Amino acid sequence: MCGIVGYTGASQAAPFLLDGLKTLEYRGYDSAGIEVLGGDGRLRGVKCAGRVSSLAERCAKADLRSTCGIAHTRWATHGAPNDRNAHPHLDCTGRVAIVHNGIIENFSELKDELVAAGHSFASDTDSEVIAHLIEDAMAGDAAGDILVALRLACARLEGSWAVVAMSADDPGRIACARKGSPLVLASTDGGAYAASDITALAGVTSRVIQLDNGQFASLDADGSVRVFTETGDEVSSPDFLDIDWDASAATLGGYPDFMAKEISEQPEAIERLLKGRLTDNGIELDELEISDEEIAAIDRIYVVACGTSYHVGLITRTLIESWAKIPVVVEPASEFNYEDVLVTDHTLCVIITQSGETADTLASARKMHEAGARVFAITNVLGSTAARESDGVLYIQAGPEVSVCSTKAYTAQMVAAVLLTLYLAHRNGSMATGEVSRRYRELTKLPDLIRTVLDRSWQDKAAAHEFEHAGSALFLGRGVNSTTAAEGALKLKEVSYLHAEAYPAGEMKHGPIALLEPGFPVVTIVPNDRVREKTISNIQEVIARGATCIAVATDGDEDVASLVERVLWIPPTPEYFVPIVAIVHLQMLARYVALARGCDVDKPRNLAKSVTVE
Ligand code: M6R
Repeated sequence: MCGIVGYTGASQAAPFLLDGLKTLEYRGYDSAGIEVLGGDGRLRGVKCAGRVSSLAERCAKADLRSTCGIAHTRWATHGAPNDRNAHPHLDCTGRVAIVHNGIIENFSELKDELVAAGHSFASDTDSEVIAHLIEDAMAGDAAGDILVALRLACARLEGSWAVVAMSADDPGRIACARKGSPLVLASTDGGAYAASDITALAGVTSRVIQLDNGQFASLDADGSVRVFTETGDEVSSPDFLDIDWDASAATLGGYPDFMAKEISEQPEAIERLLKGRLTDNGIELDELEISDEEIAAIDRIYVVACGTSYHVGLITRTLIESWAKIPVVVEPASEFNYEDVLVTDHTLCVIITQSGETADTLASARKMHEAGARVFAITNVLGSTAARESDGVLYIQAGPEVSVCSTKAYTAQMVAAVLLTLYLAHRNGSMATGEVSRRYRELTKLPDLIRTVLDRSWQDKAAAHEFEHAGSALFLGRGVNSTTAAEGALKLKEVSYLHAEAYPAGEMKHGPIALLEPGFPVVTIVPNDRVREKTISNIQEVIARGATCIAVATDGDEDVASLVERVLWIPPTPEYFVPIVAIVHLQMLARYVALARGCDVDKPRNLAKSVTVE
């Protein structure tokens, strides 16, 4: 939620700040703004509701010449997404500017106190209190030192934050603070940088400093970065992360949108993840650092995640219970955090999070840590909070996922979950080595199976016509594919704004069947599996009500083809891995429906790529 950037150095700040905001726009795109310190010693800025492109147009007409500045792209929490609530926010004197990502939970009390003391507010945001607290500190105990002032201000805050601040009274310096929301820094010969994530720093560095929770940093015009603790002591060796940059990975590279690009990248992502994972000793996941004895003792696994990653969790439960014979509880993180848990010395928690920054998921991991569980993370983003706070990390290596709609991370996370399951099953003696090798070989065929589906995108384009006059859609499936249905429905509503609901196919007759009428689109996942006949019966029930049935079926299934309006064909695929192949059709279908409805598939309204508020 919200992307923030800052720069101080020898070059012009505005070009980097605007480029950085464009890169971080997936984190929020309600409004955007920039503030720089002008040559006359005064702050000046531009901010507006809408996208970074609108901000860039306005900036082109403004005098933003400066070598020091901060900028923000917003996902609104407190205050409508309009010009006045756009960041940066200033204090009463106009000499302090801040950008903030997170939520200030006690802002209301602080605001009352500040207003009573004579401060006047220009926005409805929670963030603005930070600028006014800094204003008081600058004039008081901080004696004009922006870093000290920010530290004093943060001592008054409750909630979560990444804050980047500057003051005309401490020129050329940028102060940063982090608690809960991510912030990375870079020290280079050309200047010092701050950003919400490493993608915004591609092209300027291959080494970032990761600010820890509770830490502060000072960025100076000579390019130096100094990190401090909460009590003001300098940290002699801050946390560095070396990045193996592929800057082109975060560009469109000829594709019309990131969703199209990322859907097409799935085969290579899975190949990368699988490479070298099978050895004579079974699956190699040494990065998890857990002994065979510890695995054999695991009494229960909690799988916790949100959104699309939660859907991966649902399938992970089926896999682990079937193959590793360990009981699994799977919960959406937002619910899990308020539930009682049963943790013993042998309980494992697996969090699944593409970004590694989802607040609810991180809170779940912390809760499980406190309760004494070992926590593993399946994540995409190198050095993310989930990765840093977990006892073991399995990186899915899918490369940057820019589109807010998760596609390649979903299938890569699923493959990672299969690897984890095979690893646990083999090490605890539930699965023989030969069986592990056989399953692994099946996994290695997935990239080509997905390529086959990608080549059939014309089927999804044609099927999208069935949604032209629809106001809602139903997705059905059985077993693991009831989750494929859930993920397909999530994709459709997220990018096309068309209401969609998913149901286990056999449950339809207990309620949702009342929705059906001629023309109502029903997408049914009906592969050649053990429940195919039952699912075909459900298709019959759909057809009998005159609804339009679109089926995801296995090549050659003429029984299904003869019943339904459209078929999205998948090649024969081992039963447990159908969700990884079938979803590719549903991703493409959602995209085509969304494009036909004129939607921005990469930046759906109201959403943000990483949800860093609970
Ligand atoms: O980064 P995470 O995997 O933790 O994100 C979880 C959800 O916010 C995310 O999967 C969301 O549901 C996607 N936009 C779905 O496409």
